[in-house]
Amino acid sequence: MTEEAYRLITPDGHELELPVHKGTTGPDVVDIGRLYNNQGVFTYDPGFIATGSCASDITFIDGEKGILMYRGYPVEQLAEHSNFIEVCYLLLNGELPTASELEEFDTTIRTHTMLNEGMLNFFKGFRYNAHPMAMLSAVVGSMSAYYHDTTDVHNPEHRDIFAHRIVAKLPTIAAAAYKLSIGQPFMYPKNGLNYTENFLQMMFSVPAERYETDPIQAEALDLLFILHADHEQNCSTSTVRMAGSSGANPYSAIAAGISALWGPAHGGANEAVLRMLDEIGDVSQIDKYLAKAKDKDDPFRLMGFGHRVYKNFDPRATIIREMAHKVLNSLPNNNETPLFELALKLEELALKDDYFIEKNLYPNVDFYSGIIYKALGIPTSMFTVMFALGRSVGWVSHWREMISDPNQKIARPRQLYVGAAERDYVPLEKR
Ligand code: ACO
Repeated sequence: MTEEAYRLITPDGHELELPVHKGTTGPDVVDIGRLYNNQGVFTYDPGFIATGSCASDITFIDGEKGILMYRGYPVEQLAEHSNFIEVCYLLLNGELPTASELEEFDTTIRTHTMLNEGMLNFFKGFRYNAHPMAMLSAVVGSMSAYYHDTTDVHNPEHRDIFAHRIVAKLPTIAAAAYKLSIGQPFMYPKNGLNYTENFLQMMFSVPAERYETDPIQAEALDLLFILHADHEQNCSTSTVRMAGSSGANPYSAIAAGISALWGPAHGGANEAVLRMLDEIGDVSQIDKYLAKAKDKDDPFRLMGFGHRVYKNFDPRATIIREMAHKVLNSLPNNNETPLFELALKLEELALKDDYFIEKNLYPNVDFYSGIIYKALGIPTSMFTVMFALGRSVGWVSHWREMISDPNQKIARPRQLYVGAAERDYVPLEKR
């Protein structure tokens, strides 16, 4: 980071110099860290609209141009040429692996897929209809109890083991949550299969039958994992960083991120898109629902539309739309084609509508991903879990970056207090 100054005139007419840091690319940031000490004022930016919370070298987004890069590599290139395990290595280590590095990493992940057997009992305590995200968050939180030998956040070896455990075991936990919800036996991982094939096997096989993964299914899911792998300081990743900044054990920080992801304004939107498409039901109803989305007095929003950062297009949505065509064409008798056609028409009409044009609202990553999940036989309640599987490596990468930063401090925002001014306690009998 190189520095120049940003000059601010204070209300009493003094000129204040604030350092400016320049990144590799993207907007400069004005360093206001000493503003309170110098001027006795805080800054105010609810929702962090214009506030950078850290310096990071993991992911870059240009929301105006629709650019997303992991470690400098455009996501379109990774989607076309790479695979999820290689992207995991890239995000965790900063560079693409050599062939031997990739083989070693892949083997490490494949051989750490089993859960401590006691964790399966933990699952059995959940109510039969518990939401899989609730189970995912709780079971990942419980990992600190099963793997407490490696929770020294200052030990790089512990940090590596933690990273590998999260990436390797999350699919096993996710599939177990699904199996519990449908009353089928948990399927153990098969280390001969790659990450995505193994996950499909744990989801859809049963002990009584032979199971073979469909290559297009595996390709589509692997692509979705790549596209969800990281997205810089989004809500769940910031949650992981914030929870971890206290030095809390990292499994708890990831569990906090999973909980944040579940919200409908974040990862929960993919589930909400499918509910919305089901509710709209037919192309003839689209105008009615567009009117509802535009009506300020109606809480209805077009789910899967709009993004805090992308104000032009979400590059992930473009790639996923293409994959949805490929998946649905490979399944000629699927039941999802009408839903996809409804989504395509909804997108077309919304993109022609002045409200959506003026507010720069475009389909985001969640708009088409649910249609692919549904075509693959993944139930709606598992959609956000799929997002969490992809994003887990991003969370771990950011946690590692945060905890190994020598300038790292506990995250502790300030506030604008608008409550009662000082007043005296009133005894109960006088109130
Ligand atoms: N439908 C209708 N109107 C919308 C939508 C939408 N999907 N999204 C934004 N708007 C409108 C808002 O009402 C607001 O209008 P106003 O300026 O007249 O008040 C304006 O566009 C700006 O929207 P904000 O909510 O202020 O933008 P913000 O950056 O805070 O929110 C968000 C972004 C949460 C993604 C929002 O667009 C939304 O709720 N979208 C639907 C949910 C969704 O798809 N979430 C997934 C996001 S991607 C992800 O997390 C992986």
